Amino acid sequence: MDRSIIAFSFALLASIALALVLGVQAQPGFISIDCGALNGYTDKKTNITYKMDDGFISSGKNVQISTMVSQYNLQYLNVRIFPDGRMNCYTLRPDQGKNRKYLIRASFWYGNYDGKNRHPSFDLYIDVNYWATMDVAFCHAKEIIYVPKVDDIRVCLGNTGNGVPFISALELRALDDDIYPLGSGFLRVRGRFNLGQTVEAYEFRYPDDVYDRLWSIMNNPKWSILSNTSAIDLSKSNNAYKVPGEVLRTAQGTMNSSSPLYFQSPINDAKWILYLHFMEIERLKSGLQREFTISLNDNQFTETVSLEYLKPVVVVSPPFSGPFITLSINSTNKSGNPPILNAMELYSVVDLPNVPTAQDDVKAIYDIKATYHIKRGSWQGDPCVPRDYTWDGLNCSYGNPPRIISLKLSSSNLMGDIVSSLSHLSTMEYLDLSNNQLTGAIPESLAELPHLSFLLTGNVHLCLADPCSHKKKQKTIFVRVVASVSGFFVALFGALAIIWLIKWKQTCSKGGEAFEQIPNSSERTLRSKNRTFEYREVSKITGNFGQVIGKGGFGKVYLGTLDNGTMVAVKMLSKSSEQGYKEFQAEAQLLAFLHHGNLVSLFGYCDDSKHKALLYEYMANGNLRQHLSGEHPKFLTWSKRLQIAVDAAQGLDYLHNGCKPPIIHRDLKTSNILLNEDFRAKIADFGLSRAFAFENDSHVSTRPAGTVGYLGPEFQSSGNCDKKSDVYSFGIVLFELVTGQLAVMRSRDGSNFMQILEWLIPIVESGDIQRIMDPRLQGEFNINSAWKVVEIAMSCTQPRAIERPDINHVSTELKESLVSNSSGSFQVTSSEILCDSVPSAR
Ligand SMILES: *[C@@H]1O[C@H](CO)[C@@H](O)[C@H](O)[C@H]1NC(C)=O
Ligand SMILES: *[C@@H]1O[C@H](CO)[C@@H](O)[C@H](O)[C@H]1NC(C)=O
Ligand SMILES: *[C@@H]1O[C@H](CO)[C@@H](O)[C@H](O)[C@H]1NC(C)=O
Ligand SMILES: *[C@@H]1O[C@H](CO)[C@@H](O)[C@H](O)[C@H]1NC(C)=O
Ligand SMILES: *[C@@H]1O[C@H](CO)[C@@H](O)[C@H](O)[C@H]1NC(C)=O
Ligand SMILES: *[C@@H]1O[C@H](CO)[C@@H](O)[C@H](O)[C@H]1NC(C)=O
Repeated sequence: MDRSIIAFSFALLASIALALVLGVQAQPGFISIDCGALNGYTDKKTNITYKMDDGFISSGKNVQISTMVSQYNLQYLNVRIFPDGRMNCYTLRPDQGKNRKYLIRASFWYGNYDGKNRHPSFDLYIDVNYWATMDVAFCHAKEIIYVPKVDDIRVCLGNTGNGVPFISALELRALDDDIYPLGSGFLRVRGRFNLGQTVEAYEFRYPDDVYDRLWSIMNNPKWSILSNTSAIDLSKSNNAYKVPGEVLRTAQGTMNSSSPLYFQSPINDAKWILYLHFMEIERLKSGLQREFTISLNDNQFTETVSLEYLKPVVVVSPPFSGPFITLSINSTNKSGNPPILNAMELYSVVDLPNVPTAQDDVKAIYDIKATYHIKRGSWQGDPCVPRDYTWDGLNCSYGNPPRIISLKLSSSNLMGDIVSSLSHLSTMEYLDLSNNQLTGAIPESLAELPHLSFLLTGNVHLCLADPCSHKKKQKTIFVRVVASVSGFFVALFGALAIIWLIKWKQTCSKGGEAFEQIPNSSERTLRSKNRTFEYREVSKITGNFGQVIGKGGFGKVYLGTLDNGTMVAVKMLSKSSEQGYKEFQAEAQLLAFLHHGNLVSLFGYCDDSKHKALLYEYMANGNLRQHLSGEHPKFLTWSKRLQIAVDAAQGLDYLHNGCKPPIIHRDLKTSNILLNEDFRAKIADFGLSRAFAFENDSHVSTRPAGTVGYLGPEFQSSGNCDKKSDVYSFGIVLFELVTGQLAVMRSRDGSNFMQILEWLIPIVESGDIQRIMDPRLQGEFNINSAWKVVEIAMSCTQPRAIERPDINHVSTELKESLVSNSSGSFQVTSSEILCDSVPSAR
């Protein structure tokens, strides 16, 4: 057995033993559930007492994950899975009850519990409202601040048909009602950062934080670090936010008072709120004070703050929206001290559009469910809402609030009396209890419901009123016949689609300007935008082909200089290659109408009878492969790698989603990603690219495509290429960026070659990404953003194409993880909490 597993098992036993000795004693205001656990216990790391699921949920089953990693919290070791039922709900009943403020955190780690190496995707709901979609292979926590309208809080997992929902842990913490004002929605935690902390491996939570918020460490290398080495006791401070002294004890600031703290991050949701936490931790010379002005998104919000020694200050922004948050903190004239920031929280404000079903109806239907022991997979959570998850056998009206209007419990093996709760469903119009073994009298109250028709046939021992004497004449049930006109519409739309297809054109967007190419035209002419060059001009530009800067599959690439001084790369086609000529043509045709900052651009071409050449913009830093293989002396820092990943993703996104029909690159790899003098990346080499609709063009589909190491499994089996094959190749590129290894790498003993995934997946699954990170980074990377990139790369390289994300999604996710160290700005590294306990960094 692996040593860490032994140590780990020992720790597990020890903590269980401790729990047994102490008796399981919970923290006041906390509900802590270790979903899937076989025992309750006290976690030694936090002293938090966890319970098993019993009493919180009745469905699902417990399983152990197959990845065992000691540095994670115990809560991740087991999961509760829900193979049955569309919706499965935990019910939390905090002592404080409804209309109070709670922090609720749900944690997930798939951990390959089923051995299928394929994590599911499913939806998370808080009561009747959508909370988040879970689609993550690694440990991940979702956290909200929420005020329930009812005493029972339900956290539900909705099966969306993409695998079996599961959960690792569920935690609720009662908050002070005066903090985190909410308005009508709830707050979703996007990041909670502790600045200036230098102990990498440590994340702050309970008992440091009385509310058990998770504070992750984030530092901007361009800013200075301030810290007070002595522990600070803030227990007597009357600041209601109660940010732990350990978090406020450290801060970051700028070098001097004339430079502002500047921070920018992309945001996607509509409304965001920022909480900024400040505290003076330096004893300044008497008479001096730290004073600064906070400005958000170009003065949409400003506030001036002066700090006093060891007095916490919280600044809350109003909700704001836009593509970015821009925060600047600028010292005022009289301050003389640089601005600082001790901690920061980012939330998005989420609306609660769904109203729960009328509580009388909910109570009645739960009574009915309990009395008759009804076990239907869908009978969990709210009966009517969300509408996609309405319970089987009932229909609702969707006014405010929604009501139950019909209930069908025929042939459901119901026994005993007709329960009086049925008559509490006061808006019910139709009730079907036929073919059960109900006995006794039909309650008068039920018969009196104003709009009710009901069906009771097949219950032999049922009668209208005591004493049982005569049978009630059954009311007739009207079945509305809906004439199906849908067939007609399908035919009509089909015809429209065909007409539309005939009018199909190749278009790619660019600032309103559309470039088009008519397919199936035998003479695809290049647009006049691109200059044509004579061979002798090419010869002059390249100084008689003096300097070779690369070698492509079908010829050499030379450095050249145009008359105006612009440097160009000139790709010459060797005379013999017929294959090369086809690709040359294809590339020239495509590049003529592709215009995007992350695609290499074409200046012109030379196409006379003997000589073919393409003239591109010159990319001073060569290709990405040269840098990763060490061939190029310049070292790529982690933030440069992230930027390159984002650039390449954007280029691919343009091909896939900015062009109609989409263009498939077919040969994305590190040697086709070029870097300019600022290390911004552009995708090159479209020789194998084809617009989607050309797929059936026979002379095209016989061409070879792709490069070994970058091809998804579907290509090996069928030779088919689509958007998702490019996404696979992109995932391999991401892994090369992370690891510094090549797509096809030497095995450890150097004897043979292996694919990068074979080497990396077992290590990643064990949760130890430190071991795959490029050693040349020397640990200089942000662990959260590294996890995020690995996670994205894993999703891109899923064996089944359908499970890979669209490049647009990938691009958005990567942008979130981008840490830009340039010009004193940096970006939030993780939009949500990755793990309760980040794997120890060193
Ligand atoms: C947990 O409680 C024990 C006993 O009260 C204490 O010794 C220990 O320091 C606590 N651990 C943490 C992480 O607070
Ligand atoms: C303040 O810091 C900035 C950036 O570190 C530097 O460019 C500037 O010269 C400094 N100003 C003073 C007055 O020291
Ligand atoms: C740190 O805080 C303590 C009080 O807790 C104070 O006495 C000390 O002067 C502070 N250190 C610095 C460097 O400001
Ligand atoms: C701060 O000082 C600068 C020059 O020293 C002056 O132009 C500016 O008006 C001052 N700002 C305020 C708010 O006093
Ligand atoms: C910061 O304040 C200084 C003077 O106090 C001013 O000159 C400068 O323009 C301000 N910078 C920003 C970004 O507001
Ligand atoms: C609910 O409505 C649908 C569609 O109108 C109908 O087919 C179904 O029988 C109804 N169910 C009940 C329980 O009334």
